[in-house]
Amino acid sequence: YGLWLDYSPVQNTQLRSDLSRLYSGFYFFGKSPTYEVIQKELTLSGEKMLGQSPVFTTERLAQTQVWLGTREELSQVLSLQQQTSLRALGEDGFWRGPITFQGKTYYAIIGNRPVGVLYGVFDWLKSIQTDSFDKTAEKTDSPKVRLRMLNHWDNLDRTVERGYAGFSIWDWHKLPGYVDPRYLDYARANASLGINAVSLTNVNANARILTTDFMKKAKVLADLFRPYGIKVFLTARFSAPMEIGGLKTADPLDPAVIDFWKKKTEEMYSFIPDFGGFLVKANSEGQPGPHEYGRNHAEGANLLADALAPHGGVVIWRAFVYSHELDEDRHKHANLEFEPLDGKFRDNVILQVKNGAIDFMPREPFHPLFGAMPQTNVGMEFQITQEYLGQATQLVYLAPMWEEVLQSKTYRPTPSSTVGGVVDGSDSGKKLTLVAGVSNIGTDRNWTGHLMAQSNWYAFGRLAWDPDLTSQTIAEEWVKMTFGRDPELLSKVSGMLLDSREAAVNYMMPLGLHHIMGWDHHYGPGPWVTGGRPDWTAPYYHQADSLGIGFDRTASGSDALGQYAPEIVQAWSDPQQIPEKYLLWFHHLPWDFKLQSGRTLWDEIGLHYDAGVKSVRQMQETWTSVQDKIDPERHEHVRQLLAIQAEEAEWWRNACLLYFQTFAKRPFPAEIEQPT
Ligand code: GCU
Repeated sequence: YGLWLDYSPVQNTQLRSDLSRLYSGFYFFGKSPTYEVIQKELTLSGEKMLGQSPVFTTERLAQTQVWLGTREELSQVLSLQQQTSLRALGEDGFWRGPITFQGKTYYAIIGNRPVGVLYGVFDWLKSIQTDSFDKTAEKTDSPKVRLRMLNHWDNLDRTVERGYAGFSIWDWHKLPGYVDPRYLDYARANASLGINAVSLTNVNANARILTTDFMKKAKVLADLFRPYGIKVFLTARFSAPMEIGGLKTADPLDPAVIDFWKKKTEEMYSFIPDFGGFLVKANSEGQPGPHEYGRNHAEGANLLADALAPHGGVVIWRAFVYSHELDEDRHKHANLEFEPLDGKFRDNVILQVKNGAIDFMPREPFHPLFGAMPQTNVGMEFQITQEYLGQATQLVYLAPMWEEVLQSKTYRPTPSSTVGGVVDGSDSGKKLTLVAGVSNIGTDRNWTGHLMAQSNWYAFGRLAWDPDLTSQTIAEEWVKMTFGRDPELLSKVSGMLLDSREAAVNYMMPLGLHHIMGWDHHYGPGPWVTGGRPDWTAPYYHQADSLGIGFDRTASGSDALGQYAPEIVQAWSDPQQIPEKYLLWFHHLPWDFKLQSGRTLWDEIGLHYDAGVKSVRQMQETWTSVQDKIDPERHEHVRQLLAIQAEEAEWWRNACLLYFQTFAKRPFPAEIEQPT
């Protein structure tokens, strides 16, 4: 329950003795609340890894071992060249390594700000936990993305929208008087990954969070998180001027509304001087917004941006909008609404775009807004909570999905651009960059419901820091930090993680099938759903009929494909050229269409579903084989959940194949387990 910060005892004798020496003399060159936080972490890690309390000396004596501080604080002991290269690491970067001063070598961890030192310390502790600490080596790192943010979909009554790990960890009822120690563990875990922003409340927002009483509560959290480098954001309900301000309108151009937001924002900063800003869901799924007054998203976002700008705050405006009334294909809605507004948003607005255009499906092609709005800050929204991926019952490691999206080529704004490059600013040239993830955290003892889902929180933070990291590197780090460093355990458990996402795609929605889950709760199969709106009623998303299956989004269909760069349109319009993983996302094809394997589409669908089931059974076997390497409690927890997952994978396979067979009217391929 200590997450990846469990700090298991160091076994290697040489490393133990080196660390024992280092832990005997920490010296901070300055003072900062962040250094107090670092001291606590060093105390905890020293006790757990070495059984030794660290010594913090107050004078820079020759017997000090580890030097910590900012570039400025250490300027007298650093060469000019060292200082210049440190400066280049930016606000949150750090350097760690040996420094020789007056004939003696010290180990130093230096940042440009105290939070950089904190990141350096966590990185150092990680190197110890993952067996890669080398006291003679220098290491630098800095985040590629400015805002690395968790979005909690937590309601004020402590329920969590799409939360599967208990209730909200924010105990609004007892705040501001009672400070749950869990808040600090939460901050530590985030800071260890470099997560530096958190939106506390649901995007389907309650205006009460902006009342004075709630601001006082939010202030307590902001004060606690500050030394960890974490800024607090809140969700703003667009109609708040009417609900808590007594106004008759929320029209963004109305002077009284402008004044309401200006005063509200000022009040917010009087409680939280470094308040991050507002996250807004507007004119989406029934949420209020500027459209009610004939205004567009830019006019809505700019209203809040202008109120926040004098204080340095940011508006994060979500691009998740759809309505079946505007277009026959919801896929196109965001681009139709937002692309014409490129260049119209203030500099302190970020448009937060989900990774795909539908809604966090197990696999989606990247959202066509990435690369399509060169004059706008465009940020990424991933979903860490597994709304459509087996929730907290199934083991699905999400990093391969995020990696796939980040590595996708957008061909815009430059021919070599990728989603990752648009998001981290390297292709877009933007500085105000954002990677957000919808949190999977709750009051469950293990934080995330499924123990293995801790890896998704971890992976999210690592990818937000560096979108170029591979899911394998991240999986291995997490396994070592969570289960220890046994090589067999490492390869088996990280193998399970890495295979798990493709397994889920196979047994849920292979070959580009999507949105065929149970209606409303989104759990389990439901390709037959009747959900009360045309786009929530079968066969809307799969379009299965006697001739074939798949959603035609090419020029002959909805032409959602036409919203991508010409290079993509050209390649993906052709069912022979499009990557097969996206086939039925964009094409409606006959059941006997031949795939690269030489098999028919119908047979291939069957094989994919069946392969998904077999992968889960393989995960069960692998897990059984590491039983003696994991403590019984954690082993049994995952074992039971894998057993449910295996049953549910069969449920998905059988239900979907039997349903689709009513259209295809063909036998199942002989080599699969026959669904009944
Ligand atoms: C999904 C999810 C909703 C959520 C919405 C959003 O549709 O099911 O619960 O509110 O996404 O991202 O706003």
